[in-house]
Amino acid sequence: MVKIALIGCGTMGRTHAGGYLKIKEAAVTAFCDIQEERAVKLAEHHGAKAFKSFEEMLEQGDFDMLDVCLPTYLHKEYAIAAMNKGKHVFCEKPIALTMEDGEAMLEAARANEVKFSVGHVLRFFPAYKQAGEQIENGRLGVPRLIRTTRNQAFPQWSWENWYQDYAKSGGPILDLVIHDVDWIIRNIGAVERVYAKSFNGTVAGQEHCILLLRLKNGAIAHVEGSWAYPSGSAFHVTYEIVGTKAQIEFDNLTTSPVIKQTCENGLHKLEAFSPVEGLSEPYCAELNEFVRSIEYNLPLAVTGQEAVEALKVVLSGIQSSKSGQPVSL
Ligand SMILES: NC(=O)c1ccc[n+]([C@@H]2O[C@H](COP(=O)([O-])OP(=O)(O)OC[C@H]3O[C@@H](n4cnc5c(N)ncnc54)[C@H](O)[C@@H]3O)[C@@H](O)[C@H]2O)c1
Repeated sequence: MVKIALIGCGTMGRTHAGGYLKIKEAAVTAFCDIQEERAVKLAEHHGAKAFKSFEEMLEQGDFDMLDVCLPTYLHKEYAIAAMNKGKHVFCEKPIALTMEDGEAMLEAARANEVKFSVGHVLRFFPAYKQAGEQIENGRLGVPRLIRTTRNQAFPQWSWENWYQDYAKSGGPILDLVIHDVDWIIRNIGAVERVYAKSFNGTVAGQEHCILLLRLKNGAIAHVEGSWAYPSGSAFHVTYEIVGTKAQIEFDNLTTSPVIKQTCENGLHKLEAFSPVEGLSEPYCAELNEFVRSIEYNLPLAVTGQEAVEALKVVLSGIQSSKSGQPVSL
């Protein structure tokens, strides 16, 4: 049984807590939040202990791993403090706000010989897993063109509105688009060059962004993200991947199945897959992988190094959007 302490009982903390209830090798023994009532509520539900102070939880809590669901600017400090006490760490994405912080987290995990993973959950969403499988088994041929969108209203739910402060959240290029960037790197290939357009935080809470990625294998990706849809808009994500043999597309609002198009003997053929998307299941799946990697000493599904690679691409995107020039990695 892996004993877990969870810090940050906000939106993602509550989602993760629900996920652990379905994992047979997991038991959350401690919750921590500076808004103590949030920790108490989850602790009551899980039969765990509630803490207001992280230091107290680190000293008194009985746990093997820390799950960091804090605002992004706090990830490094808390993850490293736990690693230095010999705890494994699962940290929400994005890993950190800077390469230096991300690298310091990798180094602390190495030095303390603990497992460390980051919540690149898109890899666990059925529609994205299916596209990955189609690419891996060669059914699309060679992927050449990728188009992804991830659009929503400004995330207004956060503690002290920390998403609004780009020094804390990084804005939508760092916070949002990193999901698709990680997925593209892992399923299609490493990024060579980035060109990006956005408002760079100059229009608070109204940011659209577009990244154009050139991959080392020659494919190009158009990656779009937004925090500027009208308040109350549905979360809208899409992808289109065009390979030399077939194309595959997904739209979470209009085509709940994934659609694959092929052309055989001059005949156009459409094929639909139905990913069953329980909202919390991908989060449960990513945590299940991490818990099992500890319990049975298995390789990580998502490594810290991979999270740093994705961070490098989005930071290059921010740099490009500020300078107006493409950035080579
Ligand atoms: N994987 C995903 O799909 C996804 C979705 C949303 C957010 N995120 C990421 O998850 C992380 C958390 O985001 P959120 O939306 O849950 O934020 P949130 O604002 O909803 O929750 C943050 C919580 O942390 C608590 N907190 C702040 N400082 C603390 C401290 N020093 N000690 C203890 N508790 C503290 C706050 O009281 C709050 O309850 C961010 O890194 C964000 O980018 C990931």
